Amino acid sequence: MIDINKVDEIINRYEKSEESLLAILQDFQREFFYVPEEGMKRLCEVMDVPESKIYAMGTFYKALSLSPRGRHTIKVCTGTACHLKGAPQIIETLERELKVKRENTTEDGRFTLECVNCVGACAMAPVTVVDEDYYGQTRASKVGDVLKKYE
Ligand code: FES
Repeated sequence: MIDINKVDEIINRYEKSEESLLAILQDFQREFFYVPEEGMKRLCEVMDVPESKIYAMGTFYKALSLSPRGRHTIKVCTGTACHLKGAPQIIETLERELKVKRENTTEDGRFTLECVNCVGACAMAPVTVVDEDYYGQTRASKVGDVLKKYE
């Protein structure tokens, strides 16, 4: 359940016009780490726009997520170089340590675990990216130390 007062507070920061929609959705994302359904519904009422329009924006913009996300995103590169250098073991270790399957969010909302294509740092393979931090030559045995840095 999200705090609906927070939703209203965000909406009230902006002009009641369609030009504000994207900025409001981005603020939802920042506040809740995703765009909650309650937020979209409220936005439709206040701005008098069809729900389909808001959903379309929510699915179009990559920075927006319509399902709950963790406070931190872990991306494990599964491109060829990283795969050959041990990405599968890193993913297995993360799944075990975090008790979460890939493409899902931990129960405590701390991490979302994703597998992604080449992140363009093949010389550092295998690469794991947490939020904006790149970890090269990641060893499965060191994954626990990396996780400790993120609350
Ligand atoms: S394959 Fe992983 S960075 Fe390129």
